[in-house]
Amino acid sequence: MRIGVLTAGGDCPGLNAVIRSVVHRGLTGHGDEIIGFEDGFKGLLEGRYRPLDLNAVSGILARGGTILGSARLERARLHEAADNAEELCQTYGIDVLIPIGGEGTLTAARMLADAGMPVVGVPKTIDNDISATDRTFGFDTAVTVATEAIDRLKTTAESHQRVMVVEVMGRHAGWIALESGMAGGAHGICIPERPFDPADLVAMIEERFARGKKFAVICVAEGAHPIQGSMAYGYGEIDAYGHERFMGIGTRLAEELANRLGKEARPVILGHVQRGGVPTAYDRVLATRFGWHAVEAAHEGAFGHMTGLRGTSIEMVPLKDAITELKRVPEDRIREAESVF
Ligand code: F6P
Repeated sequence: MRIGVLTAGGDCPGLNAVIRSVVHRGLTGHGDEIIGFEDGFKGLLEGRYRPLDLNAVSGILARGGTILGSARLERARLHEAADNAEELCQTYGIDVLIPIGGEGTLTAARMLADAGMPVVGVPKTIDNDISATDRTFGFDTAVTVATEAIDRLKTTAESHQRVMVVEVMGRHAGWIALESGMAGGAHGICIPERPFDPADLVAMIEERFARGKKFAVICVAEGAHPIQGSMAYGYGEIDAYGHERFMGIGTRLAEELANRLGKEARPVILGHVQRGGVPTAYDRVLATRFGWHAVEAAHEGAFGHMTGLRGTSIEMVPLKDAITELKRVPEDRIREAESVF
């Protein structure tokens, strides 16, 4: 079998582990030939690819980013790919395409599958918000990085009697904020799933200071939003869901808390630090398992599916079920961390 593999969308720790696994399983397990397209679907459309053998993937298991490069592609160009799906397969002589990516990539994968291309998807996102898999690789690394940041911020916050507001990624779902906030023992967690009231944070911080604790750390997801009109110092934009959102919520919240408390409050925006660097052991293992199962699925002809983690097993999920809705933090998970919400 000749397998094409590509990584698309935002990068994520563990992508290289999937590529390596596809090559190892395909080549040594089945005698397959693997080619890697560069910069996601762009490479597929522009004929930029290279053969991947054991040496090409040697030493990449622990490397962040993606050796193939990644890019986001405009919708119109995706339609171009779908319109030429069969021709593209013939041009490259591929029997299956394994795109590794998030919601956008999996939507594109489905378009290609519907257009007749044999496709097996592999989900990735640090946000952990793809509903058809219990976990995505990259998430554990992001949570580990954010947790370490909270640990570190606590000691400096305490030394200076400051409030620290750490903004983590998570546009639509608050998984990273929830888990790093819990693991790091943040004193407040704000996530998109539950609008927050800055007055509650102020009350909590004042209570801490009143009992002699002279610092606080708040963990806020980038997509978190206050209850409309609750930020005393300025107004945000009302989004499509009727939520009042502030660009750079971490910075705005720190400003708000400083003004209300009359204390120093500093924002720390973790940003892409959470996506870079060495993947955790958990993410390497999950990524390797996804790669292995994607190759097996290709040999079984399970096209139009993607790998998904269900409990401890990897299952193949139809792409059409994979991208229907985002997996958001449910109420019971919020309740478990309630004391800090
Ligand atoms: O979807 C993953 C993610 O890391 C989000 O958490 C974040 O909002 C976004 O990607 C950032 O994307 P970009 O790298 O294009 O700025």
